[in-house]
Amino acid sequence: MSECYAATEGPVGGCGWRSVSGGRLVLQSASKLNIFLEVLGRREDGYHELDTVMVRTRFCDTLTLIPDFSGAVRLRFSDSTPASLRNAVPLDGRNLILRAAEQLRGLGASGCGAEIILHKCIPPESGLGGGSGNAAAALLGCRQIWNLSVSDAQLHEMAAGLGSDINFLLSGARAAICRGRGEQIQPLQFSGSLFFVAVRPGRGNSTPEVFRRTSAGTELRTSAHVARCLTDGRTDLLESCIFNRLTDAAARMNAEMADLQHRFQHATGRPAFMSGSGSTVFVVCRSAREAREVQRTAERKLRVVAWLLEV
Ligand code: C5P
Repeated sequence: MSECYAATEGPVGGCGWRSVSGGRLVLQSASKLNIFLEVLGRREDGYHELDTVMVRTRFCDTLTLIPDFSGAVRLRFSDSTPASLRNAVPLDGRNLILRAAEQLRGLGASGCGAEIILHKCIPPESGLGGGSGNAAAALLGCRQIWNLSVSDAQLHEMAAGLGSDINFLLSGARAAICRGRGEQIQPLQFSGSLFFVAVRPGRGNSTPEVFRRTSAGTELRTSAHVARCLTDGRTDLLESCIFNRLTDAAARMNAEMADLQHRFQHATGRPAFMSGSGSTVFVVCRSAREAREVQRTAERKLRVVAWLLEV
């Protein structure tokens, strides 16, 4: 398994450490896109065996961690977190940041406390792994501010216990084939950048519900083609290999998403794909410039916020 995203002080491009000053640690908490997702079957533990390719995007939340000796971990939103996101993300024991911090405190750091400020940008129930990224950042951040001698392997074990997408975002890989529940990471090396434009309907999708309504394909597809597009530098072929087995079930559950996907395709003249269990749908662009144009077109024609997601 790959190492946890290494600590690098100073500004960095993707997620990871941003700065440490006065004992205050500021971390970027990245999002992911699934550019391939096949469901291989249902497992005895109720989860589904996956073959998926995730890429880490620069669309991030920010976590600020301030250690203290209160013995408690307090979580609050930044003042500039929009009300729509405050209302959609719980700050109680359901929040993965608090659960991640608790896991670490359980490993002999019970006296450690912190104030954690979450600047939320990534909407929940979007298939972008916002909560998973927050958990990964909390694991890395709390280990750092509490100066714990917890290995990367132990962090990965905790991550897998907390959710299926956390290991990928913890690994720091730009792209990976993820198997098992999604927690087994095989990083993919590739050079250059990828550009996507994504939109989301008002309503999110419930991940358990989408999985429950999905049946494994009769003819299983493989992540090998998408992986090869990345590693062979043939990202021009990427669009033709993108696939997500969860799309049909999600579209049946969320008519607004299905309609947005259809209108997004029509407005941009490109196929639109769903990430994870949705409800974000995205199109592929060849350059930052093209992506900015597509973003403007989508916002003008669809009257929604469109994100430019760079990998
Ligand atoms: O692991 P995570 O908490 O992200 O999963 C949320 C839910 O999505 C699970 O409780 C399960 O119902 C479903 N799931 C699944 N198979 C996976 C990942 C998630 O069935 N590989």
